[in-house]
Amino acid sequence: MEIKANGKRLWHTLMEMAKIGPGERGGNRRLALSDEDIEGRALFQKWAAEAGCTIRQDTMGNIFARRDGKNPEKSPVLSGSHLDTQPAGGRFDGILGVLGALEVVRSLNDHGIETVSPVEIVVWTNEEGARFPPSMMGSGVFAGIFEQDEIYKNQDPEGITVEDELRRTGQLGVVPCKFFPIKAYYELHIEQGPVLENENTSIGVVTGGQGSVWTHINLYGQGAHAGTTPMDYRKDPMMGASRIITELREIIRSHSAAVGTVGRLETYPASINSIPGSVFFTVDTRHPNEKVLMKINQDLKNIVNTVCSAEGLENEFTNISINPTVEFNQDCVAIVRQSANSLGYSHRDIVSGAGHDACQVNQVAPTGMIFIPCEGGLSHDEAENTTPEHVSAGADVLLNSVMASAGA
Ligand code: GLV
Ligand code: MN
Ligand code: MN
Repeated sequence: MEIKANGKRLWHTLMEMAKIGPGERGGNRRLALSDEDIEGRALFQKWAAEAGCTIRQDTMGNIFARRDGKNPEKSPVLSGSHLDTQPAGGRFDGILGVLGALEVVRSLNDHGIETVSPVEIVVWTNEEGARFPPSMMGSGVFAGIFEQDEIYKNQDPEGITVEDELRRTGQLGVVPCKFFPIKAYYELHIEQGPVLENENTSIGVVTGGQGSVWTHINLYGQGAHAGTTPMDYRKDPMMGASRIITELREIIRSHSAAVGTVGRLETYPASINSIPGSVFFTVDTRHPNEKVLMKINQDLKNIVNTVCSAEGLENEFTNISINPTVEFNQDCVAIVRQSANSLGYSHRDIVSGAGHDACQVNQVAPTGMIFIPCEGGLSHDEAENTTPEHVSAGADVLLNSVMASAGA
């Protein structure tokens, strides 16, 4: 029999969390391992302890809050996401998955349900990768995709390392960050795109995710005076960057379903009357087909070389992360679909355009995801929004999926 979560309580909990690290336009700024992120994590831990959970933290700062089952020997059903946000992020991306899982535990408590397998809520460290690349960091180390020692050395733009921040903020736990057997992992998330809203559908049954490549491009020219250097004498990396970025759009447009983004661009020394000596920019490319994605990456690399030869520039082209396409576990997908069906919520299958911790966990444990609509399809912006009704439906589907896997 289906039971329902307390959607009103979950909405209130989301709004309480959103008070920490407020943005300038109603969203949030809780960059990974910043003081704001730590405050959010502390509040989560307080709530999880109040719900009767036992908490442990691993050496990547991932937090696990456990509700025991009838059989403590059984592998737990895991559910969660992340509390860190983009620099100008929303109130739901990631947060819904963590607090949705907390609502599952609270609802199980309300209904006096003892599951057979334990249920664990997880807060993964640094999903966004906005401060410390790569994204999906804590879940990536957990799944054995990244080496912890390598990840510890990664730096934010100020040169602070992941290990320094884990230590400074007291998030470096004692439990080794490594995979342990999991019965199933479920993650509730806003869609971050327009499909569900456009189709007036409550639930997205996520079948997989597209692949992505993150690239750092450095162009080196010759810094010089903006007034005295005739155009033919210049080696201007900013002119090179603008040509590459324009070409990038042509490459992307020649492959249907491809997307490409330049999210950061920095010139050195960044002065109005100096030709820059160097330019740095990032490129994020994505496609649901891995072969096409790697072809786009190669085309981009070729363009960078061609433009640099023409402009007299040197370059460094570094793929800093490559995330393969993902197919979620068929049993978990079927459980999510069945839960939405039994609850009477409209639903459709959907492929995720974004990366998620679930994509990493999927490599080592049976995994499924649940999407709910978001306003105008907006995310990674403070305008990100959804409704209490969508949140409530998503929590109901999560609760029933977790119960189906944990045995209730
Ligand atoms: C995670 O937010 C991503 O970049 O898809
Ligand atoms: Mn997210
Ligand atoms: Mn995100």
